[in-house]
Amino acid sequence: MAEPIVIDGQRAWLKQYGDSSRALTLGVLAFVSRRFHLDALRPPPHRGGDAARDVEARRLAELHSQDVNVPQVIGQGRAALVLSDNGRSLAACLGEADDAGRDALVSLAMAAIARAHRNGAYFGQPWPRNMTYDGHAIGFIDFEEDPLEVMDLEQAQARDWLMFGYGVAKYYDDRPDVLQRLMSAALGEERAPVRAHAQAVTGRLQGLARVGLRMGRSARALAHSILVIHAAVSLGVLLVAVICVDWFMDGHLDILDPFV
Ligand SMILES: Nc1ncnc2c1ncn2[C@@H]1O[C@H](COP(=O)(O)OP(=O)(O)O)[C@@H](O)[C@H]1O
Ligand SMILES: [Mg+2]
Repeated sequence: MAEPIVIDGQRAWLKQYGDSSRALTLGVLAFVSRRFHLDALRPPPHRGGDAARDVEARRLAELHSQDVNVPQVIGQGRAALVLSDNGRSLAACLGEADDAGRDALVSLAMAAIARAHRNGAYFGQPWPRNMTYDGHAIGFIDFEEDPLEVMDLEQAQARDWLMFGYGVAKYYDDRPDVLQRLMSAALGEERAPVRAHAQAVTGRLQGLARVGLRMGRSARALAHSILVIHAAVSLGVLLVAVICVDWFMDGHLDILDPFV
């Protein structure tokens, strides 16, 4: 739980870590992700109290050293941290924006994720409500879980795209093609193993996604995000395949001719 406070006239956040009470949900998720080999969706341990506070403080320090825009820890107490204000919730900004404004914010957010990944960073739950926008830069919050406890870096970075895709899909209910284009561009910049993990997970979930499209709004958002990410990754893989074939056929990249 986080609440805004004021310290010396400055807005800040008091984040308190209650007892962990999600053992059953996490157990089910862990079983499903293991059973269906959805490695990037394996849930990290969810701790409470001081342990959760320590994970968040450590992750914030790591991300800060990787040049990611995260809050500073300005105080700490029993099962609590005081964090600097990182800006408005991206979810609120997306909710208020028109289509063009949303596309601009989502592109900015994707660029921020991609840049952080290039610096070796990963997030865990980069949904719009765990991201901020201060009018200039995208920021990231909420790090009490650490995916690297249960997966490797490439899987964690693939997981970030799956989570972000899921988080923004609901804003693109009537324009999934636009989200897919944005996602293709962002994933095209990622390292091959990260794309491969995203593709493996979304590939396995495709059947579910098709059913989801016929259901209610949140199931549809989940379905769209799966299909959008899968198509985005497949396009990237297809492009690499086409380039390889092109190259091996005659040692010349015809595909680049229009650009040179
Ligand atoms: N440092 C911060 N800067 C701006 N907003 C914050 C900050 N910390 C928390 N918030 C706000 O409080 C909400 C809950 O905080 P979060 O760290 O995501 O905790 P929770 O684990 O409860 O999701 C966020 O969605 C955001 O709106
Ligand atoms: Mg949160």
